[in-house]
Amino acid sequence: MLIENPEPGVTRRTVGRAEARRASRGWWDADADAYQAEHGGFLGDVQLRWCPEGLLESQAGLLGPVAGATVLELGCGAAAGARWLAAEGARVVGLDLSAGMLRHALDGAKASGVPVPLVQADALALPFADQAFDIVGTAFGAVPFVDDSAAAMREVYRVLRPGGRLLVLGPNIRYASRVYWDFFDHHLPLSDRSMAEGLELAGFRVEHVRPRFLPYTIKSRLPRWPILVRLYLRLPPLHRVFGKQMFLVAVRP
Ligand SMILES: C[S@@+](CC[C@H](N)C(=O)[O-])C[C@H]1O[C@@H](n2cnc3c(N)ncnc32)[C@H](O)[C@@H]1O
Repeated sequence: MLIENPEPGVTRRTVGRAEARRASRGWWDADADAYQAEHGGFLGDVQLRWCPEGLLESQAGLLGPVAGATVLELGCGAAAGARWLAAEGARVVGLDLSAGMLRHALDGAKASGVPVPLVQADALALPFADQAFDIVGTAFGAVPFVDDSAAAMREVYRVLRPGGRLLVLGPNIRYASRVYWDFFDHHLPLSDRSMAEGLELAGFRVEHVRPRFLPYTIKSRLPRWPILVRLYLRLPPLHRVFGKQMFLVAVRP
């Protein structure tokens, strides 16, 4: 269509969920090989890294004991975290929207000899029965990328059993407001307060909130040595200065 005398400006149109899902899946499929090439070595084959700063679940113990628990990893990508959970004795399912990312999860299972069940689905429409899981966790998977985070929280609530927990770690827009926008795919800024409010609206009881937990160094050149991470975890006064990521635990009553 030829637009006569076009005025500079911005226009908007509403997209439905199916179109949004298709676009997101296409984006992650196209990025999957580059993502794995950039981060695969750092993520490892069998370890749960919570974030680009390098925090390992084996150091932090945020999930508590997982042996025997049913665990859903949302947005698992190449599923190194899900394999770590399986190796620790959890009954774990890795879920991701992108077949490209899940292909790397299959490669990781072959390389490590630790297979986990993988499901390709949208976090907004989880293909599981009500109350199927004890724990839902996500390491920068799904939650920041959905167009309706309230719907994602409701879905997680539905699949958790009473007493089941959701753990969320991610940038807190109150402290990471500048660097957060350095990523093309970020579009939903959340703070510890808005996240807690959303979780409560979905029916959760928010059990634990740390507004300032880890630094947000994703594009910095600071070293990510395990010893520095361990030291940082032991020095809470540093969290008040450098902490830009929040950590929340929400329980389904
Ligand atoms: C930044 S990557 C993180 C992957 C992995 N957790 C890690 O630590 O490397 C985000 C992941 O979320 C997935 N994802 C994005 N939107 C999703 C959705 N609506 N439902 C499920 N997974 C989604 C992407 O395909 C991608 O694998």
